[in-house]
Amino acid sequence: MDQTSLEAIRQTGNGLRDEVNARLEQLLPDSMRQPTHLHQAMRHAMFGGGKRIRPVLCVLVAEASGGKNRPLALEAGCAIEMVHTASLILDDLPSMDDATLRRGQPTTHMRFGEATAILAAIGLLNRAFSVVAEYPTNNPDLQVKILEVLSHAIGSDGMIAGQEIDLHQRAAYSEAAPIENLNWLKTGVLFVASAHIGAICGELGPERVDAVKQFAKHVGIAFQTADDLVDQTSTPQTAGKNVHQDDGIPTLVTLCGRRAARQTCQDHLHQADDALQRSGVNPRGLQGLVQAIFASRL
Ligand code: IPE
Ligand code: IPE
Ligand code: MG
Ligand code: MG
Repeated sequence: MDQTSLEAIRQTGNGLRDEVNARLEQLLPDSMRQPTHLHQAMRHAMFGGGKRIRPVLCVLVAEASGGKNRPLALEAGCAIEMVHTASLILDDLPSMDDATLRRGQPTTHMRFGEATAILAAIGLLNRAFSVVAEYPTNNPDLQVKILEVLSHAIGSDGMIAGQEIDLHQRAAYSEAAPIENLNWLKTGVLFVASAHIGAICGELGPERVDAVKQFAKHVGIAFQTADDLVDQTSTPQTAGKNVHQDDGIPTLVTLCGRRAARQTCQDHLHQADDALQRSGVNPRGLQGLVQAIFASRL
């Protein structure tokens, strides 16, 4: 792929990010609505400067599948971003990763207190599901499927399982395989749900949906390891969040070294691209997104 077309794809991604931000702005309760402290906390967490990778992935998959139900994909993408943001608020709490900086600003509990941070996370989670449920379509089956995929992905067999294992089992891990499984749960499942929901909107057949999910699985697992590289190699100013959180904790990076971790990411990205080709969807936008995500991380 030449540099010019790559740049063009990145521009598409950036335009989409703006579209997601504009829609999120409309979907979140106004900061002047009572109780204002809670609604301001929800907005603080949401509008700090997230990359919006998951909603962009969702909409790009819908577009790559032919563009059917794109408005629903955008709406669902915003719901996914709300769920993701809720998970970051909780992840940063003193009882979890005890972080002070997120998306370039103080974490929600630092700014609004721990109790309001927890309530803001619950507020975002519930708003996410109402956003999908309330969307006016003439195909409610699609909405039910989206809600099923999203609720399952973030439940106790998915992202929440990953967070629990991260906190209470990871320390004993000494091999790559269980760490990759943990990365799959805590990060990969939401990437897969994002792509799956885009494919549901695009009304792809089951085999192509499976290939799209494989693509997102490999991208998601690679993303968590790339994020663990950021933890070891970046600064708070560049990353917009605390770094060296993983010192003394087994990750692929701390256990196997940076070189091996980068190689693992590359292997997953090759497998992701193979799955994308197999899916038969138009690969350009999605390849551009992957390039844009990993260009500065590997
Ligand atoms: C951070 O995700 C948490 C991980 C799963 C590694 P992102 O890097 O996508 O965070 P934002 O949304 O851009 O802040
Ligand atoms: C966050 O993982 C994963 C979820 C919020 C589900 P990390 O704890 O590794 O991510 P950062 O470094 O805080 O963004
Ligand atoms: Mg964590
Ligand atoms: Mg964390």
